[in-house]
Amino acid sequence: MQAAWDAVLITGASSGLGRALALACARPGAVLHLSGRDAARLEEVAQACRAKGAQVRPAVLSVTDAAAMAAWIGAAGRLDLVIANAGISAGTGGATEPAAQSRAIFETNVTGVLNTALPAIDAMATQAPGADGVRGRVAVIASLAAFVAAPGAPAYCATKAAVQRWAEALDATERARGIRVHAVCPGYVRTPMTARNAFPMTFLMDAEDAARRTLAGIARGRVRIAYPWPTYALARLAGALPPALKAWIFARMPAKGQAG
Ligand SMILES: NC(=O)c1ccc[n+]([C@@H]2O[C@H](COP(=O)([O-])OP(=O)(O)OC[C@H]3O[C@@H](n4cnc5c(N)ncnc54)[C@H](OP(=O)(O)O)[C@@H]3O)[C@@H](O)[C@H]2O)c1
Repeated sequence: MQAAWDAVLITGASSGLGRALALACARPGAVLHLSGRDAARLEEVAQACRAKGAQVRPAVLSVTDAAAMAAWIGAAGRLDLVIANAGISAGTGGATEPAAQSRAIFETNVTGVLNTALPAIDAMATQAPGADGVRGRVAVIASLAAFVAAPGAPAYCATKAAVQRWAEALDATERARGIRVHAVCPGYVRTPMTARNAFPMTFLMDAEDAARRTLAGIARGRVRIAYPWPTYALARLAGALPPALKAWIFARMPAKGQAG
């Protein structure tokens, strides 16, 4: 099941999952607002979406720039679906996580999501409801890492837990005024983000598959869109372990490398 949204805004559309989401939403009649920081990669995605018949409005900007994000989203016109996808990831490499890395991950993955979702919700509140009775939808790309406080990626896991919980809690109040908020929690996806992981990734999926599952979950109106189920089950199990036992197990597993 996949709905066809007319006006879609996606952050981090210049690579990986954001790119696949943009291409999956591209069709004649669709208007796509796509952002990223790398102008050349963003333009390549814009061209591929135009080739599928979509109208594309690319914007080179950082999700960490609150004023620029509010101006961009406020000027977009009607928005049926906004996907706060931009994110960065890095781990400890088995050592102390550098302070600058922790701060950068929080700034992008949490503040960047707020800088996207809050102006989007403000704009949607003034829109008329669509045929499905919904004024607009905001999907936050969290991760299955939200359910595991993995010692190898403290900032990443914490930021994904923050946005997953925020999105799910927000949906309860926003749906009363016709706005839906979805928490998307993918497992491992084959993208540049995971390409440098030097450890085996269970049930690694293609970005196209992840985009299809994400959009199908949004179309079905699910608050939490977590996939694939075996990795979700493992993440829930690991998250439920006593912290000391979990730390003992994770100490024997490889950690994601540090940024740079
Ligand atoms: N890959 C996975 O296994 C996986 C699993 C679960 C969740 N996720 C989440 O999925 C999302 C997309 O990740 P991905 O795997 O597709 O990674 P990716 O290929 O590295 O893409 C990340 C995207 O985020 C953009 N971005 C990063 N910082 C930004 C900033 N400050 N402002 C604007 N855009 C920024 C990048 O744009 P530029 O390159 O143009 O800067 C790029 O388009 C992330 O939130 C990630 O945490 C990924």
